[in-house]
Amino acid sequence: MSDRPLMVALDFAGRDEVNNFLQLFDNEQLYVKVGMELFYSSGPGLIDKIKGRGHRIFLDLKLHDIPNTVNKAMKALARLDVDMVNVHAAGGSVMMKAAIEGLEEGTKAGKKRPSCIAVTQLTSTTEDLMQQELLIHKTIDETVVHYAQNAEAAALDGVVCSPLEVPLIRKACNTTFITVTPGIRLAGDAKGDQHRVTTPRKARELGSSAIVVGRSITAADDPVNAYKKIIAEWSGELETTNS
Ligand code: C5P
Repeated sequence: MSDRPLMVALDFAGRDEVNNFLQLFDNEQLYVKVGMELFYSSGPGLIDKIKGRGHRIFLDLKLHDIPNTVNKAMKALARLDVDMVNVHAAGGSVMMKAAIEGLEEGTKAGKKRPSCIAVTQLTSTTEDLMQQELLIHKTIDETVVHYAQNAEAAALDGVVCSPLEVPLIRKACNTTFITVTPGIRLAGDAKGDQHRVTTPRKARELGSSAIVVGRSITAADDPVNAYKKIIAEWSGELETTNS
């Protein structure tokens, strides 16, 4: 990824809300994230509509299944011409390699395959859950770094992680390995259900490759203004002292 995008999480229930939101951004080329709720409720046709408006798409479906199934599913997703997809690193190296092969098979000749990143540990996973329920007797940081290294070895393009985990991943992986980081809030914004939040400026300082922002933009009184404010801080144009 040559640029460092701000990805807007389109966490809406259906097409009408998406259309109303995107109409506000007719003069901007956005990079949007479409998650399970929207994709399952609206279907692949919505992807065409969003592409038709000129926006880039991270299709956040977090695939995790046997390698053959993930391979076939990725082949189908590549045909949607999205820019980024993802899998759970917990599915293992063979599954991650199968995902990349599926994407390559499904990408039209002459086109670049979608980037593929891995979820390491969900931010909802606690060390207690990992150790008591999943019987993984390591720290969260150890598993995040290990999963990131597995993803890199399987030729994935990067991981989704907390900005606070970026320095660890930067140390353990190649400089071209990307880190896509949610949990972003402007100073003073409501945290919602996110526990560990970081400002756009702090995410930039920590070395995130891309930030994912939902409610700070989608629930703002003036979403375009909020988007511009976050872009300015993320790109370093607007230096603030309150991170
Ligand atoms: O509204 P908010 O900015 O908290 O939205 C963040 C987005 O990033 C949501 O779509 C959420 O599902 C997603 N996400 C996350 N934490 C992860 C992975 C994805 O918040 N670890």
